[in-house]
Amino acid sequence: MSPQSADRVIIFDTTLRDGEQSPGASMNLEEKCRIAALLEQMGVDVIEAGFPIASRGDFEAVNQVAKQSGRAIIAGLARATKADIDRAAEALDPAPRKRIHTFISTSPLHMKFKLQMEPETVLQAVKDSVAYARSKVDDVEWSAEDGSRTEPDFLCRCVEAAIAAGATTINIPDTVGYAVPDEYAALIAMLIERVPNADKAVFSVHCHNDLGLAVANSLAAVNAGARQVECTVNGLGERAGNAAMEEIVMALRTRADRMPYDTGIDTTLITRASKLVSTITGFTVQPNKAIVGKNAFAHESGIHQDGMLKNAQTYEIMTPESVGLTKSTLVMGKHSGRAAFRDKVRELGYTLDDDKLNDAFKRFKDLADLKKEVFDEDVAALIDDEILRA
Ligand code: KIV
Ligand code: ZN
Repeated sequence: MSPQSADRVIIFDTTLRDGEQSPGASMNLEEKCRIAALLEQMGVDVIEAGFPIASRGDFEAVNQVAKQSGRAIIAGLARATKADIDRAAEALDPAPRKRIHTFISTSPLHMKFKLQMEPETVLQAVKDSVAYARSKVDDVEWSAEDGSRTEPDFLCRCVEAAIAAGATTINIPDTVGYAVPDEYAALIAMLIERVPNADKAVFSVHCHNDLGLAVANSLAAVNAGARQVECTVNGLGERAGNAAMEEIVMALRTRADRMPYDTGIDTTLITRASKLVSTITGFTVQPNKAIVGKNAFAHESGIHQDGMLKNAQTYEIMTPESVGLTKSTLVMGKHSGRAAFRDKVRELGYTLDDDKLNDAFKRFKDLADLKKEVFDEDVAALIDDEILRA
């Protein structure tokens, strides 16, 4: 399937670039190469491996990832300057498939205070930087930094100029995580509708999670016509992070009825990728994190456990196997019911008659009041004791 087809969403992973911009999340060369290899194995379309001009380490990481790459497109970030673009092109040179990702701020706030440039000068920089990047590679992505807070007419002019200069992907970042889903979707739809030759480029979204809306904004934009989503494993990234790749991919897969778009990702590698990134960066994943949290497929309440034992679909909207786990867990705790306890006793290899099971269940409940989680060894010890009492 072509990455440009109407029902295909391109997954652009920026764990190694924007993810690494998370304070304290730096990774060494060998670690970046390991992550890139797994991303490629998962079927990620574009791997943004770093910002080559930022440091020698970043240059080497992009260069090394480019050397080891195969099917995936390797991207390197560059500001709108020749020096940045030259450095990105040099780092990417060994990649069979490469992309220069160049960006400049377009919002009034950023242009005035950060760049201290007039809008017309920014517009010229868009034209020059994209054309220069296109003289180096065929695949050029242009990003309007702070795009979601940019004045719409000016944004249309910048996007039109970038496409005319040869950009093949147009990315509209919600750099500060300020947008809300309907507004962001309307912005993407407006650009696709109004900009001349919009069909010559793939529209892309890049959402930050300052209001916890990065995934919702990205999905709303896909429904409005965006066909590339920029994201990171575990939602790693600046401040509150970026849109989480595992959430985007599993939402598209689980709710294909509302969002009929394929990502091409082997979802069974999601858990492995989450663990790898978390181990390397030292950023632990919160237990209740969607898809990859320790509790994402764990059930403690008696009512839920009973339902799960009858049919897993009662309380699970996707299977643990689909994200690379072997099975769901029924956590034995004070909310567990008799059905789950009976199941656990059986799983541990015991057969108890009804009276013994009732006695053991009462003692289990007393123990569960004292302990947060009752482990298999606790249940086994309790049953052994119950058998000895007879
Ligand atoms: O958040 C942002 O705007 C970015 C751009 C450089 C794409 O990371
Ligand atoms: Zn970003």
